[in-house]
Amino acid sequence: MELNQLQHIDQHIAQWLEHLDNVIPNLIAEMTTDTKVDRFDLVTNVDKQLQQQFEEYLNEHFPGHQLLGEEKNNDSIKPYEGHLWIMDPIDGTANLVKQQEDYCIILAYFEHGEPQLSYIYDYPHRKLYKAIKGQGAYMNDQPLQPPKEVKLEDAVISFGSEYINDRANKALYDAAFGVRYIGSCGLDSIRVIKGQFGAHFNTDPKPWDISAQFLFAKQLGLKITRLDGGPLDYAKGGPFIISNKGCYEEMLSILNEGSGYLK
Ligand code: IPD
Ligand code: CA
Ligand code: CA
Repeated sequence: MELNQLQHIDQHIAQWLEHLDNVIPNLIAEMTTDTKVDRFDLVTNVDKQLQQQFEEYLNEHFPGHQLLGEEKNNDSIKPYEGHLWIMDPIDGTANLVKQQEDYCIILAYFEHGEPQLSYIYDYPHRKLYKAIKGQGAYMNDQPLQPPKEVKLEDAVISFGSEYINDRANKALYDAAFGVRYIGSCGLDSIRVIKGQFGAHFNTDPKPWDISAQFLFAKQLGLKITRLDGGPLDYAKGGPFIISNKGCYEEMLSILNEGSGYLK
């Protein structure tokens, strides 16, 4: 897609995300929480309303663009065709409910299977991260630089330990400088994107958890693959790592030794 077309779409979407500053406080003021598959799997009116409002916005301004979203039925979506948006309306819903911090909105735009625009909006801290194909990545419109390479022994890494075995868990703690985990795939990934974390992995993310990270990784020279090192499909999700090049190989070798991770 031509740069001026992308910039036109970007202006619309950035404005839509900014207007959320007036929408989210009201939704939070009347927050209601439901569970989905189990008591840990939460959804709120904030998740549902934001996705519905974005769907209405797309229908009005970009008719024909498809939306693959966490809180809707996606059976009719053709993810590799035409114009596709992937949305996680709130990533880190448990953090929103329990802490009122450390959650974000994730949006990614693909044309014929190619990432074009990515957004991760850290609403509580009013930081809008975006990537534009061929242009770069930004935080509140300030360019982000590719992170310096960091070895695993010097890196802070991030993961939820529930799906890795005890050996891999101990080996990662021993090999890395330290472990920190936010609990929002988008925000844990942003730490890697900014060079604060060496790597973040998740053994079972869905497309909306990882959709925006592809373009940030491409623009900033980071690795984004499956945990076995193979190519990751944005429309399928599955075991994923986003990593600084300096610690990627060592992370994968620890994780893949003796079935280190379970799904
Ligand atoms: C979850 C968060 C969490 C990750 C889970 C995701 P949600 O997203 O990103 O960090 O470990 O796999 O499902 O449910 O809050 O949108
Ligand atoms: Ca999510
Ligand atoms: Ca979500």
